Amino acid sequence: MSSLRKPVTAVLFVASSVLLAACSDSNATGSDTAAQAASAAPARIELDVYKSPTCGCCGSWIEHAEKYGFDSSVHHPDDLNGVKDDYGIGQRFRSCHTAVSADGYVFEGHVPARLVQKFLAQPPAGALGLAVPGMPMGSPGMEMGDRFSPYPVVLLHKDGSFELYEEIRDQQAQY
Ligand code: CU
Ligand code: CU
Repeated sequence: MSSLRKPVTAVLFVASSVLLAACSDSNATGSDTAAQAASAAPARIELDVYKSPTCGCCGSWIEHAEKYGFDSSVHHPDDLNGVKDDYGIGQRFRSCHTAVSADGYVFEGHVPARLVQKFLAQPPAGALGLAVPGMPMGSPGMEMGDRFSPYPVVLLHKDGSFELYEEIRDQQAQY
């Protein structure tokens, strides 16, 4: 997938530049109506979510995921970065929270829940999980009206390599 490397790196650079976008406690109230329509899925999927106790956008992401059938057990570890170290999430891919599925796949940051569903339905061989590095403006849990910056969803492999899983180009593509 070396042909993908360059574009992915380029988008990652953009993503990291919005890392500083504040994760405020003001609850973003993006319209998730498409999500509600899609929430008819019967089986609930358990996630362990590791976050800081003061993270507002993490809570908003958890609410977003609930609409897609995910139930979260929330954990506030003293050493959140240590958790990310333990799961092998590279520095450049990190975000505010880390969600872990029952079978040990990781979903770092504001990954659209529909992509978590898609991934878990058919996990790629050797995959560690998915990551949305930084905290892109307008991503699920980071809604700010219609403000939106396109961002990559990165497929992380257990061997430390990565590739583009899906590029999210507009807000509606997330739901
Ligand atoms: Cu966040
Ligand atoms: Cu978060």
